[in-house]
Amino acid sequence: MSFPTRRLRRLRTSDKMRNLVQETVLTPKDLICPVFVQEDLKSRVKIESMPEIERLPLDDLNDEVGAISDLNIPAIMLFGIPSKKDDVGSSAYDENGIIQKAISQIRTNFGDKMVIMADVCLCQYTTSGHCGIIHGNKIDNDSSIETLAKIAISQAKMGVDTVSPSAMMDGQVATLRKALDDNGFTDVSIMSHSAKHRSSFYSPFRDAAECAPKFGDRKTYQVPFTNSREAIREVEMDINEGVDIVMIKPALSYLDLIAETKRQFNIPVAAYSVSGEYALVKGAVLQGWVNEKEITEEILYSIKRAGADMIVTYFAKLAAKFLQES
Ligand code: PBG
Repeated sequence: MSFPTRRLRRLRTSDKMRNLVQETVLTPKDLICPVFVQEDLKSRVKIESMPEIERLPLDDLNDEVGAISDLNIPAIMLFGIPSKKDDVGSSAYDENGIIQKAISQIRTNFGDKMVIMADVCLCQYTTSGHCGIIHGNKIDNDSSIETLAKIAISQAKMGVDTVSPSAMMDGQVATLRKALDDNGFTDVSIMSHSAKHRSSFYSPFRDAAECAPKFGDRKTYQVPFTNSREAIREVEMDINEGVDIVMIKPALSYLDLIAETKRQFNIPVAAYSVSGEYALVKGAVLQGWVNEKEITEEILYSIKRAGADMIVTYFAKLAAKFLQES
């Protein structure tokens, strides 16, 4: 009988030894924390399908961003929920809109201590709940991207660092880049939801942001979850259009695409661990079926191991706390 001479267990003998050979690192600096801010709200509102996540009134924003900053999380991703919706989503680019007020308030209070990223999309702002503008019975690409550009400019005027188009309209990155540059905002970066898949994992978000489509679905603009070459083409097109950071979304069922994007391109890669990923885990945690700290760390490390440089996650605050403890 021959004994093994190659023994990987030699490197697993103690915490210290395991730390020495640890390949993937996760710190709060890798995290981006989503923040929902709602117009005309008096106090925080819980989101039923996303335990511990709330919609905030403007008045609570400083406290929330302060708490995020104290955890050494470098960036927030802002989503606005307006009081008024219309056919063209005009409150998305209103200079007194909820997101514009939020950006300006955070910039005034936090200076450069927080990277302010903001969602650029229409679905919270249109009566249809679609991410683009409806002409006839279609979502019209080219008028939608003009509106997305207006939104980006309105956010840039308030001091946003990074605009994050999530509408999945063709040409959205090129249109935003040109509009930003033409208006003197050459330093505002673009993190595009490049390969955003049509996903059931977004359902809790649609409660959170009141943006479910009133008819049909998002299949005519979001990437089918069956197609990886198409997803990589989306990434490639965004790079050609001048994007600064590409994003794969959702994260956990799409680790192959995170890895492939990292392999093929020299550009920062973000992963968006979406509302449904959070809700599934949180549901099991609340039942006592899994250990919250362990499963959260495993998921976030896996997303980084796949190749993500940064992760947008509803676990951001919790994970930052866990990481500080360990
Ligand atoms: C809207 C938008 C969605 C998400 C981010 N931006 C929902 C959708 O496309 O239906 C989902 C985020 C999440 O589920 O956490 N453009």
